[in-house]
Amino acid sequence: MIGLFDSGVGGLTVVRALLEKAPQADFVYLGDTARTPYGNKSPETVERYALEDAEYVIRHGAELVIVACNTASALALPKLQESFPNIPFIGVVKPAAQAAAALGGDKVGVIGTKATVNSGIYEKVVRKYAPGAKVIQKACPLFVPLVEEGMLDDQVTKIMIRRYLTPLRQANVSSLILGCTHYPFLKSSIQRFMGKKVKVIDSANVVIQQAMEEYPALFLPKQDPKQLIAFTDTSSNSDKLASSWLGRPVKGIKAELAPEPVRV
Ligand code: DGL
Repeated sequence: MIGLFDSGVGGLTVVRALLEKAPQADFVYLGDTARTPYGNKSPETVERYALEDAEYVIRHGAELVIVACNTASALALPKLQESFPNIPFIGVVKPAAQAAAALGGDKVGVIGTKATVNSGIYEKVVRKYAPGAKVIQKACPLFVPLVEEGMLDDQVTKIMIRRYLTPLRQANVSSLILGCTHYPFLKSSIQRFMGKKVKVIDSANVVIQQAMEEYPALFLPKQDPKQLIAFTDTSSNSDKLASSWLGRPVKGIKAELAPEPVRV
């Protein structure tokens, strides 16, 4: 069983990549819709929320946890691994940074939440794999609420794309990391604005590729796969977004988090 979690519906972009590659795998997904967004919270709060989210998916059988949230990957990965030493965790930052480095451009753009950008993690990891690269970052705090509201094609969203991404377009970045799992919902509009020459890297696809290479047995097809989608706050809005994004009817179950994570 693969566990995945995010602050809300964003991690469903990772679930979609998972279902494209391994449609019959067992998984449990938790979206912490009651407390989203994480990207404007302090590192201590993000770490605490991430521990509670991880405990939920592990309690529901996860043997591997994919942290389908850049903010939690940036701020909580060491604490998660330390708290649940028997469960492997894979975050989204490293595979996305490696994918950007592999493309070999000299200027890499990164967009993410304030917390992810302020952590400086992408700059550090991209430069580890591509030491000569210049990393240009931009926080895009309004993208998450726009996605959670389902305003994917709205005029307001287009205005915000222009406002946030103009400096990156002017800087002529050769690639752009979508450093937040909510952003693939806006990928086609972002690609259109940045132009065809810019390679837009979706952290959702690359994290699934890495997880499949490292833990292939968990992605094998099951006869009657257990595929559970849970939200800490259930609403028709999350179900609607999840259903349209995954191309199947989704009725999220209500997740009850344990206040003190149980160590396993
Ligand atoms: N989707 C998450 C990320 O990748 C979190 C966004 C948020 O809650 O602010 O960063």
